[in-house]
Amino acid sequence: MSKTVTLTIDGKQVTVPEGTLIVDAAKKIGVDIPVFCYHPKMQPVGMCRMCLVEVGRPVVDRATGQVVKNEDGTPQIRFAPNLMTACTTPVSEGMVVLTESEKAHDGHRAIIEFLLTSHPLDCPICDKGGECPLQELTMRHGPPQGRFPYEDKIHFEKHFPLGELIYLDRERCILCGRCIRYQAEIVGEPVIGFYQRGRATEIVTYSDPGFDSYFSGNTTDICPVGALTTADFRFGARAWELKAEASICAQCPVGCNIVFNTRREAKSGGRVVIKRVMPRQNEEVNELWICDKGRFVHHYTHSAERLSRPLMRKGETLQPVSWEDALRTAAEKFEAAGKEVLVLASGRLSNEDLFNLKALADGLGGRAVLYGDMGGGDLTTLVGVGQGTNLATLGAGDAILVIASDLQEEAPIWWLRVKQAAERGATLIVANPRATKLDTYASFVIRYANGDEVQTVLNLAKKTDKIGQAFAEAENAVVFFGSEGLGLEGSQRLAVACAHLLRETGHVGKPNNGLIGVWQRANDQGAWELGFEPVADLQAAFEQAGAVYIVGADPFGDGRLTLDGVKERPFLVVQEILPTPTTEVADLVLPAQAYAEREGTYVSGERRVQRFYAALPPYGEARPDFAITAAIGKRLGLDLEDGSAEKVFERLAVTQPAFENLTYARLAEVREQWPIVGRGDLYYGGTAYENRRGLGVQLVPAAQREEPVTLPEVQGEAGPRPEEDEWLGVPVTRLLDRGTTVLLSTLLHRRIGEPFVVVHPMAAERLSLAEGQKARLTVNGASAEVTVRVDETVSAGVVLVPRSMGLPLYEPMKVSLKAL
Ligand code: SF4
Ligand code: SF4
Ligand code: FES
Repeated sequence: MSKTVTLTIDGKQVTVPEGTLIVDAAKKIGVDIPVFCYHPKMQPVGMCRMCLVEVGRPVVDRATGQVVKNEDGTPQIRFAPNLMTACTTPVSEGMVVLTESEKAHDGHRAIIEFLLTSHPLDCPICDKGGECPLQELTMRHGPPQGRFPYEDKIHFEKHFPLGELIYLDRERCILCGRCIRYQAEIVGEPVIGFYQRGRATEIVTYSDPGFDSYFSGNTTDICPVGALTTADFRFGARAWELKAEASICAQCPVGCNIVFNTRREAKSGGRVVIKRVMPRQNEEVNELWICDKGRFVHHYTHSAERLSRPLMRKGETLQPVSWEDALRTAAEKFEAAGKEVLVLASGRLSNEDLFNLKALADGLGGRAVLYGDMGGGDLTTLVGVGQGTNLATLGAGDAILVIASDLQEEAPIWWLRVKQAAERGATLIVANPRATKLDTYASFVIRYANGDEVQTVLNLAKKTDKIGQAFAEAENAVVFFGSEGLGLEGSQRLAVACAHLLRETGHVGKPNNGLIGVWQRANDQGAWELGFEPVADLQAAFEQAGAVYIVGADPFGDGRLTLDGVKERPFLVVQEILPTPTTEVADLVLPAQAYAEREGTYVSGERRVQRFYAALPPYGEARPDFAITAAIGKRLGLDLEDGSAEKVFERLAVTQPAFENLTYARLAEVREQWPIVGRGDLYYGGTAYENRRGLGVQLVPAAQREEPVTLPEVQGEAGPRPEEDEWLGVPVTRLLDRGTTVLLSTLLHRRIGEPFVVVHPMAAERLSLAEGQKARLTVNGASAEVTVRVDETVSAGVVLVPRSMGLPLYEPMKVSLKAL
């Protein structure tokens, strides 16, 4: 156990580990020492001097080394002549700290007055107004009147775009450096910095495009003034007009805890709309951070294009019908199809939705299929990370393997947490056919040829080299496997190989050990847990079905399904929130509520079941997915729950062993986290929200339940290799893609860009192409215009094709690329 020291702060005694800073020790006993530059996630720098306190230490007799006592037996305390910064001074035994003395207050007043010599009087028009540490501390500690002539205040250009997402108001900046240190220390992307000196100092961006980082929005939360604002929210609403409701980000498998800030407003036709998305603290998931995709992709929820009424095909067009007609028709068609019903659902749906959909398919004797092209979920249910796993506790002596995944593009907050684990000393092994940003932090980088994924894992399992030995000897080991360069079959094979590696090295069935799938959707893991699996030939499954029920997926838009050449098309029911190419070809369209409009749960890639809550009223006549499915099921005589998401979850928990004993109440439990945010003060975590609505519960994998685990046999190669004189197109994932919901956030369009492919410079030369040039990519008979990018780490003979960019490539296959 680490040594502790006991000290007194404002008359209250506190015992904390040696080395704790005064500011943190005070926080633990409810004393909020004012800070600006200090942030508990970053190294202290003592730049702003706001945290000045009086510090006294026991007087020690030099001759005896004993503490000198007063007459009453209490230790004599000698106070330092000057105030000290609580954010840089560690505690010591017997220390006495005064934060509310007159001298300390004088210090606070002087610092506030000094800051206000430059700061404009913007509060009435400032986005931070109402939740601003400077405003609040000025009210608490500032002088009643400024002595500095207003005309002498420094004036800078206001509303300066650091990038298209983040704006800087230079006059408001108090030069605390939090934003710069966040980018440098936490993200490792120092794309902003100080420029000039003295009163002329300002923040500038060094990157092109400006502020080029997927984590830029977090700086607006931790900026203690209104200097940094997002282009999305600035001038959008006042803080006190906003309501807050807890949710989970649905954009990737990390499952970041978030808050939707909403407001009813005239310009949105009197509707309640999401005004901004903020992080909600969960130290085991996302700490205090979210990525820019999670922050800015919310505009689809109030899109005027939303489906608001059931629609039925009459001739060539879809016509509005009543819910009763729609549900009756769906039930009749499903009943007629019986065993030939195909339910195709995506991991965009909640567990409750998927549970009812599976029950409907099972009740009819039909088939429930997961929409996606990544396999391995059966393995994560067996040897996935165990309960008690927390990436923040991985460090020296532990190992992490990331294979076939570009974590920053696929799950940005995992990228951040894996990077931090490596910085704490964990052995990070990054295996990928090309360079990714995680390589910088890796102890070992393995560059394999496409098709060698399985062999790469088998080589590690042999433990014949220092990489394999480091993995095998690690106290704890986690494997992140993805689907970069792979399709369904290849990723399944890779997952099997990873599962064997983990088991053979004794890294399953305990906390901080096991397999994690870098899924393409937020609840893919939940879908696998509930028995959904993808199929290899989706088109064949579609054509063989008598009726198809597609929920939360756009296979026609993605080019996964086509009606071309289909002789007898099945009756097609599509349940969606927005019109898509799939709804366009549907016979019946059922409008679903966006997840922000209803309750439910997701299972994150780390197998944590987390609750989300209704932040918005329903749109039009849209209903929750689970309720629509239950209503159809009831018409078929099936006993499906439609009362509430909680009631569906109750059924789910008694039928699914992994969910045993889970309830909505358990998922909503919270406990105190460090750092402490919220509690009415804004100084620490910025405007991140305190978690009052649940930290979630991790599922117990079969290996941790000590059930016998039978793994499938490892099979040969994961995918094809490039052939001589051919180009092998391989899919990769990008964070900002051209998905229907993403594209409705116009702010992101510049970052999303046009469809592109990436090739090796030599390949570009062979094809007579250059960086930035337009070319035509042909895949499987379909073709699209793309921009060419070059990357010398990409294998020759391989063309990287991003998913969801309008290019129908889901597994490695031959492509052609021609200059336009
Ligand atoms: S922009 Fe904000 S966070 Fe950055 S240095 Fe200025 S006040 Fe601090
Ligand atoms: S890391 Fe994933 S879950 Fe977290 S905010 Fe970004 S997209 Fe959402
Ligand atoms: S010097 Fe302590 S908070 Fe800035």
